[in-house]
Amino acid sequence: MLQYRDDILHMNGVSLLEIAEEVGTPTYVYSFDTLTRRVRTYRQAFPHALIAYAYKANATPAILAHLAHLDCGADVVSLGELQAALAAGVPPDKIVVNGNAKSDALLLLAARAGVRALNLDAREEIPRAAWAAQTVGRPLTVNVRINPGIDAKTHTHLRVGAPGSHFGIPPEDVLPAIRDIMRTPHLRFRGLHVHLGSQLLHPEDVEAIARVVAHWVRTVRQAGYPVEEVDMGGGLGIAYTEEPALTPDRVARLWAPHMRDLDVRWVLEPGRWLIAPVGVLLLRVVQVKRAWGRTFVAVDGGMNVLLRPALYGARHRIWPVVRGEAVEPVDVVGPNCESADVLGRDYLLPTPRSGDVLAVLDVGAYGYSMANRYNLRDLPAQVGVWGDTFALLSVNWLPRQLPKGLDRSGGLA
Ligand code: LLP
Repeated sequence: MLQYRDDILHMNGVSLLEIAEEVGTPTYVYSFDTLTRRVRTYRQAFPHALIAYAYKANATPAILAHLAHLDCGADVVSLGELQAALAAGVPPDKIVVNGNAKSDALLLLAARAGVRALNLDAREEIPRAAWAAQTVGRPLTVNVRINPGIDAKTHTHLRVGAPGSHFGIPPEDVLPAIRDIMRTPHLRFRGLHVHLGSQLLHPEDVEAIARVVAHWVRTVRQAGYPVEEVDMGGGLGIAYTEEPALTPDRVARLWAPHMRDLDVRWVLEPGRWLIAPVGVLLLRVVQVKRAWGRTFVAVDGGMNVLLRPALYGARHRIWPVVRGEAVEPVDVVGPNCESADVLGRDYLLPTPRSGDVLAVLDVGAYGYSMANRYNLRDLPAQVGVWGDTFALLSVNWLPRQLPKGLDRSGGLA
């Protein structure tokens, strides 16, 4: 999907230099062809499961519409995400609602829309869900989110299924919670939900999900309750740099021995795996400083447009949009006034000059969706690429408010 042609980086058939020049920077660019391909790969691995795409990874409306068209459901965690799913045309019976602090408004809309399932995160949520169902006069189908008690090998911020986590229902409360649900009018118990964490790359962690779920399906059935469905959450990681990656197919094979005889329907909530490699972030070099024996390449977007390096120490590949021969090690830093605003150190890039355009890779997930207005900067623009055409998906409005004659390269950062 990304390749150099005549030393200029292209996404599919489109020059990223042309996009940077026409639309400006910072700009996210997404390949819809890659997105289609990844959804198909995922579906081939799990042909019978509902793929409920995790909206938090990227909820840009054109992307949501495309995923709905590819028959993906939605995993939503806020009123805004639920409204976006309905607006994208996702049928309510393909929407699952997650979250540890669902607002009253979210509960009410979920009940009124008739979502596939609300994944209950606490025993304490049971009366609140029942209230919403009663208020709108429609029964609400619920799953119980189990805290699997597994300490997955991922960044501590991305680990949510470990003992002591504030997500999910701890083992000792699982059966009591189901008993409460069965006794509560307006609620229908459907099954179990689990989400171990994100950016999972270790086969043993992934396999542990199936082992825990299989154990709980049997335990709940032995206690006399039916389990029709299991929602296995999301979490499959990608190789941002050199890490050995897992494929959806490999995950399916790791799960098969544990799940084979359970006779349940499956829901999956992938976010990152589907969309991260679909997007790049175009940034322009504002200024190059040589100091302390280092080369600091200051670009026009940092932790405001891509929070992952500052928040998780994530390392994304950064490629020059125009390839050059002589390379040197540089630190790529953002424009915001704090030391955390570093996109990464020791990248080998062609000798940088002001105005050069850089591409940060694998930012389709948790890039734009976590962008913010720190230092009163504008949100980046977004562009979609289809084959050799591109279109603006959302704009960066600030330049239009500038006095005439001040163009985008005139020091917006
Ligand atoms: N389902 C639930 C209940 C989740 O909490 C999440 C992610 C997903 C599905 C999707 O997980 P994925 O397949 O994308 O790993 N901002 C972080 C990631 C946080 C993920 C939170 N929950 C990052 O930039 O790495």
